[in-house]
Amino acid sequence: NIYNFRLIGPDTKVYGVIGKPVGHSKAPFLFNELFKSVGFNGVYVHLLVDDVAKFLQAYSSTDFIGFSCTIPHKDAALKCCDEVDPVAKSIGAVNCIVRKQTDGKLCGFNTDYFGAISAIEDGLRGTSNTSSTAGSPLAGKLFVVIGAGGAGKALAYGAKEKGARVVIANRTYDRARELADTIGADALSLSDLDNFHPEDGMILGNTTSVGMQPKIGETPISKHVLKYYSLVFDAVYTPQITRLLREAGEAGAITVSGLEMFIGQAYEQYERFTGLPAPKEKFWKIMSKY
Ligand code: ATR
Repeated sequence: NIYNFRLIGPDTKVYGVIGKPVGHSKAPFLFNELFKSVGFNGVYVHLLVDDVAKFLQAYSSTDFIGFSCTIPHKDAALKCCDEVDPVAKSIGAVNCIVRKQTDGKLCGFNTDYFGAISAIEDGLRGTSNTSSTAGSPLAGKLFVVIGAGGAGKALAYGAKEKGARVVIANRTYDRARELADTIGADALSLSDLDNFHPEDGMILGNTTSVGMQPKIGETPISKHVLKYYSLVFDAVYTPQITRLLREAGEAGAITVSGLEMFIGQAYEQYERFTGLPAPKEKFWKIMSKY
């Protein structure tokens, strides 16, 4: 019973993930199991939401404590917050909203940034030691980010911060151009990506929903160009091994699953939501069941 029904009462703290679609999100399983395992009186639910602004306005006077934001609401969510963390402001997207208990103000954060970049750095270092203080293995690499939505912005911003040369490839070219101009990167139309291979050893990160359940046969890039990439990351984690990751592995690249980003971004959300330190060893244990 992941929803801790017997515990729900007036003191129960309520959280949810806002998205459309949202049924694929494993956040409710993770957070409810975590709450149960540490004896925290909280419940976390899926929230299928069309209009994030209307939703947050309607729920601002309820006792929801926090929301995670997923596709396609990360950009719009930022505009609905009363206060935005400087990193989230620079990225231009929010994936975690916490309501301050003192004055009810909505505070927005971006935890995708840490989740995605630390997973990719670990993949390049061949370790899961995120505390390494050596320079980033991303420095100087050519990093292609597919997608220019909230997750794409976080990944592109993070790659740039780590000293990579960044190229944004997006289905809608103008959106890629706009993001590229904001962070100092190059832009491509997604349809040109199969002919883009200026050098070997590039890094690829997919932040679109292409390949996500139920469309598991889809991939954003042709298999024949994957040999130019040394590491391929996919933010999709349902399924855990997407067609993109399978083909990248066959082409000899290091592959990093979206599950690593999902867990990395969830550590910070858990701490912001509960005010408690994240029991990190429990995250992987729980996710291995789902
Ligand atoms: P999120 O905030 O989670 O990143 P988003 O803002 O809706 O979600 O962004 C989704 C990204 O996936 C966008 O880059 C979108 O491309 P467009 O800007 O052209 O809309 C991309 N995307 C979604 N579905 C896609 C598809 N079927 N093929 C290619 N790109 C797709």
